[in-house]
Amino acid sequence: MYEQVSHSLLNEILIKLNSEIKQHELRHFYTRLGANFYAIHSLFHLLYGDRDDFEDQALCLVEAMARQYMDRSEQLKRKDIEREKDHNWFLSQKWVGMALYTDGFANNLSGLTDKLFYFQELGVNMIHIMPILACPDGKSDGGYAISDFRRVDSRIGTNEDLHKLSESLEKRDILLTMDVVVNHTSDEHDWAKRARKGEKKYQDYYYLFDNREIPDMFEETMPEIFPETAPGNFTWDEEMNKWVMTVFNNFQWDLNYSNPAVFIEMLDIILFWSNQGADIIRLDAVAFLWKKIGSVSQNEREAHLILQLMKDCCQVTAPGVLFIAEAIVAPSEITKYFGEDAINAKECEIAYNATFMALMWDAVATKNAKLLYQGLRSLPDKLERATWLNYVRCHDDIGLGFDDADIHAVGYEPVEHRKFLLDYYTGNFSDSDARGFPFGHNLKTGDARISGSLASLVGLETALESNEPKRIDNAIQHILLLHSLILSFGGLPLLYYGDELGTLNESDFLNDENKALDSRWAHRPNFDWDKAELRHQPGTIEQQIFNAIKKMIAVRKEILAFADFNNRELIYVDNPHLFVFSRFNLTRTSGGVLVVVNFDANPQYLDMANPQIKSVLSYGHIIDLISGDTPAMFKNQLVIPPYHFYWLSDQ
Ligand code: GLC
Ligand code: GLC
Repeated sequence: MYEQVSHSLLNEILIKLNSEIKQHELRHFYTRLGANFYAIHSLFHLLYGDRDDFEDQALCLVEAMARQYMDRSEQLKRKDIEREKDHNWFLSQKWVGMALYTDGFANNLSGLTDKLFYFQELGVNMIHIMPILACPDGKSDGGYAISDFRRVDSRIGTNEDLHKLSESLEKRDILLTMDVVVNHTSDEHDWAKRARKGEKKYQDYYYLFDNREIPDMFEETMPEIFPETAPGNFTWDEEMNKWVMTVFNNFQWDLNYSNPAVFIEMLDIILFWSNQGADIIRLDAVAFLWKKIGSVSQNEREAHLILQLMKDCCQVTAPGVLFIAEAIVAPSEITKYFGEDAINAKECEIAYNATFMALMWDAVATKNAKLLYQGLRSLPDKLERATWLNYVRCHDDIGLGFDDADIHAVGYEPVEHRKFLLDYYTGNFSDSDARGFPFGHNLKTGDARISGSLASLVGLETALESNEPKRIDNAIQHILLLHSLILSFGGLPLLYYGDELGTLNESDFLNDENKALDSRWAHRPNFDWDKAELRHQPGTIEQQIFNAIKKMIAVRKEILAFADFNNRELIYVDNPHLFVFSRFNLTRTSGGVLVVVNFDANPQYLDMANPQIKSVLSYGHIIDLISGDTPAMFKNQLVIPPYHFYWLSDQ
C-alpha cells in the first residue's frame, strides 16, 4: 500500500466527517489518527479492501473512533498522555493482579466497591472483574454469553455502580481490567434476535448456513471446544431454519469478522468500556476470531490482523488502555499475540502465559522440573514492550497444551504422559492427594483437561480429611511455591480469588442444571468472608497462606529485578527436582535474585559453584529475601527443604 493512498483517503474522510464531529476540538485525536492512519488503512484494506463499500466503511470506522474520543473524559485523556510519556509503565514489578467473579466475591458491584480494602491489605493493585454484562439466566457460560454489550447485568448492578467502582479504584491506584467478549454473542443478543427475525443486516453478523454442506466442510478440520456439553461447531436454529456457527456452547453465536460492520461494532464496544474507566481490556478467545474451511480456525493470520487493527484504532482514541490476549493455544502460537516482527506489542501488550501455567502443574505432579525447564526454554522471547500474565489458576480448566517435541525431549511419551497427568489430578492415580475433575473429555480424541481449585489440586482437601499435619503442610507449601513462581518469573502475576486463603472445590454447582455438566464451576467459588476473617487468626491455614502471599507481594514490589525487561535467565542444574532461574537488573551489576524451587518431597541440594549462579550471587553472603535468613549450606551445596522455594540475593 502506498502512503499517498492512505493520505488521500484520510483527507477525504476528514472532509466527509459528520459536522458535529468537526465542531469539536480534537487536536490529540487528529495527531494520533495521522500517526496511525497508514497502519489502520493498510490493515483495514487487507481485511476488507475487496468490498465496494470499502471507503464508506473506512469513514464509519473513523467516525466511531472520533465519537468515542469525544465521549472520553478529560481525566482519562490526561491519563492517556501520562501513559504515553511513561509507555513501559505496566512492565514495573509494582503491579499484582487478581481475577474474580463479582457476584462470587461480593454479590454485586457495590459490594465489591466496599471490599477494596481487602486487595489493599494483600497488596493487589489490579483487579480483573470477569464478565458483568447482561446475559441470559442459565445459558450464560459464566457471563461469556452476552446479550447486551453496553449494559451491566441487573443482578450485578448498574453502569453507574461500575462508574463508582472505577472512581474508587482510581483513588486507590488500583487498575481495572474488564472483559470484552469479542468472538461471540449470546443467542439472546439483539443482533441474534433480529437475525432470527430475518433481518439481513444482522444475519450478516454471524456465520449462517441453509444446509450442512459448508458446516460439514468446516467440521472436517475444526476441533471441538466443549465436546461433552456442546459437541460440533454448528447449531440448528428452528426459527431461522439455518445452521449457526457456535464454536463454544450452542447458545454462543460466533461473530463474522469478514463483515467490517462487526469489526466496527466490537471496536466501538472496546472503546465504550475504555471510556467507562477500564485500564485494561481482556479480549476473550482471540485465537478464534477468523474461520477458514480446511483449517482448525484458530490462530489464523486474519485473527492477528484484526487484533492489530483493534490496537491501532484504540491507540488513537484511548492510548492508555492495554489489551490482554486470552489465547490458550500452543506455546509457539501464544507469543504471536503480542504481534510479530516488532519491538512494541502491535496486538496485545499482555498475554496469558498458559504454557508456564500448564508446565508448573506438570512439575507438581512429576515432582521434577524437567518439562518445565525444557518447555520454557522453547518458549520464544517476548517483545520488549509486552508482558506475560502469569497465573496458577483461573476460572477455566487446565489444558495440557505442551509441545509434544518437548515431552519427547525429556524422555516421556506424549499420550501416556498426558494420561498420567490427567489421572494424577482427577483421582485415578493412587499416589496423589489431588482432587480435580476431568473437563472437556473428548471421546473421539481421548483428550481432556482438568478442573479444580488450586488448594484441592495440591491436596489440601484430602489432607484436611486425613487430618495429618504433614500433608496439610505439604499442600500449603505447594500453594506458596506456585505463587512464588508467578510473582518472580517476570510479568504481571494474576492471582485467582480465594486461592490466597486455600479455598477448596465447591460442589453447589452440581445442583444447578445449567452448571452441573461444566466442572469449571468447582473452582468458581462463592467467596466465604467468614473464612477470610481467619486470615487474622494466628495458626490458621488461612493466615499462613494469606500472610505468606502478602509478604511475597510486598517483597516483589521492592525488587527492581522483578520488573519485566526480558531480564531472566533459566539455569540448567543437574538436579531435576529443582527449577532455578535468575532475575537481574539491566546493568547486571548488583541486585540480582536467584529463584530456586524444589518440587520434591525430599530436601534437595543445589551446587552453588555453577557459573551462572555465581554470576548473580557473587558477593558471598546470601540471604533469602522472604525470611531474611541465610539458608542452610553445606560445602557449596545449598539445601532446599521439600516443596520449598528461595528468592536469594547478595546482602
Ligand atoms: C474464554 C473464557 C471461557 C469461556 C470461553 C467462551 O475462553 O475464559 O470461560 O468459556 O471464552 O466464551
Ligand atoms: C479452550 C479455549 C480457551 C477457553 C477454554 C475454555 O481451551 O482455547 O480459549 O478458555 O477452552 O475452557
